[in-house]
Amino acid sequence: MSIVLLGPPGAGKGTQARLLSEHLKLPHISTGEILRAAREARTPLGQSAEKYMREGKLVPDELIVDLVQNRLKETDCRQGYILDGFPRNLAQAKSLRQKHIVLSLGVDAEELVRRISGRRQCGQCGQTYQIHFQPPKEAGKCDRCGGELRQRDDDREEVVRKRLRVYENETAPLLGYYRDKGQLVMIQGIGDVQEIFQSLVQVLSR
Ligand code: AP5
Repeated sequence: MSIVLLGPPGAGKGTQARLLSEHLKLPHISTGEILRAAREARTPLGQSAEKYMREGKLVPDELIVDLVQNRLKETDCRQGYILDGFPRNLAQAKSLRQKHIVLSLGVDAEELVRRISGRRQCGQCGQTYQIHFQPPKEAGKCDRCGGELRQRDDDREEVVRKRLRVYENETAPLLGYYRDKGQLVMIQGIGDVQEIFQSLVQVLSR
């Protein structure tokens, strides 16, 4: 089963992709995580991507499309995978040849800004927290592994607003593209994380 999670920044794609990955035993492929790891390791990809990410823009397709294609050819993707953050525009969508189930998480802009401004992520295991709604037991520390919690540098409010505009202009048109192909399922992304996860599981079991 090959799944694409669509949705604006902060819609919960990463949160739900991690839960689905554990539940379905399928790899979670997050292009944002791949790019952030490359940036941290100062690889050529990371260095090229850095300024686009800092400004809340999409990195150019030529940096990301082949990378995803190669990742999908790895053996752990044979039974399927969960794509989080890809595709982000029509050219990227057209680079995916096989059929996918496309799950789109809908959340309004005000809630997105609130969620992102309170997001913290574990520097070691990647677990995300929301300091207002889902805080860790001990401030600044990951419940799972004890790692240090950090704020992403593109989570500043002005960059978040730019990312939301980029989503509207470049990614939201994919909803029509996948609707026309009969591959789109819209999911309400507001509410309890576990309840949203259960609706995704229900859709996938149909
Ligand atoms: P990326 O990392 O993909 O960021 P994004 O799409 O902006 O998405 P986010 O990670 O911000 O949000 P999310 O939907 O995963 O939400 P999350 O689960 O974390 O991309 C970053 C950058 O990389 C891009 O701007 C671009 O530059 C580049 N890039 C990446 N892919 C690219 C591509 N294909 N092409 C070109 N460039 C690319 O949740 C958010 C917060 O809300 C968390 O704190 C979480 O705990 C909380 N939360 C989750 N669910 C709920 C809920 N139900 N209720 C309350 N809080 C919740």
